[in-house]
Amino acid sequence: MKLLITGGLGFIGSNFCRHILTKYPDYEIINLDKMGIGSNPASVQDLEDNSRYRFIKGDICNIPLLHKTISQVDAVVNFAAETHVDRSISDPYTFVQNNTIGTYTVLDAVRKHNLHVRMVQVSTDEVYGTAVEGSFTERDPPNPSNPYSASKASADMFALAYHKTYKLNVSITRCTNNFGAHQLPEKLIPKTIIRALKNLSIPVYGTGTNIRDWMYVQDHCAAVAAVLEKGEAGEIYNVSADNEATNIEIVKRILALLGKPEDLITFVEDRPGPDIRYSLDSSKLRFQLGWKPEVSFEDALEATVKWYVENEKFWAPYATRDILSPAPWKTSVAR
Ligand SMILES: NC(=O)c1ccc[n+]([C@@H]2O[C@H](COP(=O)([O-])OP(=O)(O)OC[C@H]3O[C@@H](n4cnc5c(N)ncnc54)[C@H](O)[C@@H]3O)[C@@H](O)[C@H]2O)c1
Repeated sequence: MKLLITGGLGFIGSNFCRHILTKYPDYEIINLDKMGIGSNPASVQDLEDNSRYRFIKGDICNIPLLHKTISQVDAVVNFAAETHVDRSISDPYTFVQNNTIGTYTVLDAVRKHNLHVRMVQVSTDEVYGTAVEGSFTERDPPNPSNPYSASKASADMFALAYHKTYKLNVSITRCTNNFGAHQLPEKLIPKTIIRALKNLSIPVYGTGTNIRDWMYVQDHCAAVAAVLEKGEAGEIYNVSADNEATNIEIVKRILALLGKPEDLITFVEDRPGPDIRYSLDSSKLRFQLGWKPEVSFEDALEATVKWYVENEKFWAPYATRDILSPAPWKTSVAR
């Protein structure tokens, strides 16, 4: 099996490259990544000497490159995306370009080169918007609240349309908020750990009562692999470990694990259009494909905090850029 992984220098993509090389001895992978803002080459340094791993620096919007690469593989998992909601508020164009047009380009390369190529489009729970009550199933319609989730929902629509129109063998995963090793400091959990380690104030949006549903990245990788192997074409699979918590609860747990005082917490103005709660029902994935999370939330959070404490060389080059601005969505990008 020759597998193309796009966005494999990013947080989840790099964990997924490692997951595949470890668990699937017959797979060879090509990691195609443009080395954009969410990437960190240090995340895959340990894979570089593996004869089953090859890296190509490139953009999924580059049509000739995509066509050439797709013609060499049996399957593609599309992780490549701009992912920071705050940046999507200040610079929506970049999100339409990379997330929507980028996904269209991958789908169209598959259509033109080999309709037998298996594809997984990695999407997000954010496409459903706020869960006022209960948990979203795959039958609920997209209702995105910000440019990031709108760009991902649009990409999902193209994937479903390409299945219906051209019979592309594509499935979609929609996962909740990930955490774990190799996440850059712009996101809540690494930002909190790093700022706490440096005794800096911890910015928490609004009153900290927004609820997210947390997923250990290794369990997410196993879910994507299960969908790649056993998922049905044209189907969506929600991925959740049922770990709902308010942001303030998460921050307090991290401070407790690090032995740091809660008075580091500073409440800052929330983003415009915040989603109050995300919640997914993942029974379809669990019952139909036999996936379940393997690591408890407590163990995963502890392992993640320990990893950041021991791996400063991974995050130090990014720390000043990403952690010092409490509300990056305020910096607008002119076009
Ligand atoms: N992080 C989460 O909590 C989460 C949850 C659910 C779904 N997702 C989805 O999972 C995927 C990966 O998320 P992540 O957190 O690892 O993101 P990330 O920002 O850490 O990494 C994204 C990677 O994609 C690359 N990339 C971006 N645009 C590209 C392009 N046009 N061509 C080639 N490479 C490009 C970047 O260089 C980067 O290495 C995304 O599609 C995201 O929407 C993320």
